[in-house]
Amino acid sequence: MTTSVQTPTEPVATSRSIFDLLGGEPGVRALVDRFYDLMDIEPDLKELRAAHGPSLDAARDKLFWFLCGYFGGPDHYIQRFGHPRLRARHLPFSIGQVERDQWVACMGRAMEDEGIDLALVERLLQSFFGVADWMRNREG
Ligand code: HEM
Repeated sequence: MTTSVQTPTEPVATSRSIFDLLGGEPGVRALVDRFYDLMDIEPDLKELRAAHGPSLDAARDKLFWFLCGYFGGPDHYIQRFGHPRLRARHLPFSIGQVERDQWVACMGRAMEDEGIDLALVERLLQSFFGVADWMRNREG
């Protein structure tokens, strides 16, 4: 007679959202705050800073709300503003290669400063580059 062995039912690997890996809302907030702090002080991000208005407060909140949903957490941005339509919403701002590259560089530095795992940083930067490139609305 053969006996069957019951296998454990726990999953071999748990899959967590990027939102969880980043530390949930406090982690995403800290990342966004670091991103805009750097944009405000770093001389080599000055074209990106100049494309923004005098205050970065509204941008901080909006990017935080957007990224929570983008990373797989709560959809705060969509609840407040509807579909992101990011390209359309960025048309009032002049975005060329310089602004695209500075945005991605600024996000890369902010993620490294927040101690995010470098493999995850690489992965997220590739995806942000695609979004930022698609947002270009000026030659050059
Ligand atoms: C992956 C790239 C980017 C993402 C995910 C992103 C995300 C966002 C989001 C969610 C908003 C709020 C939109 C709204 O509801 O009004 C915003 C606003 C803005 N973004 Fe971006 N953005 C990106 C790239 C850029 C680039 C390359 C520039 C360069 C000029 C830029 C400049 C701005 C400005 C000036 C605002 C308005 C801020 C304000 O309301 O005070 N963004 N962005």
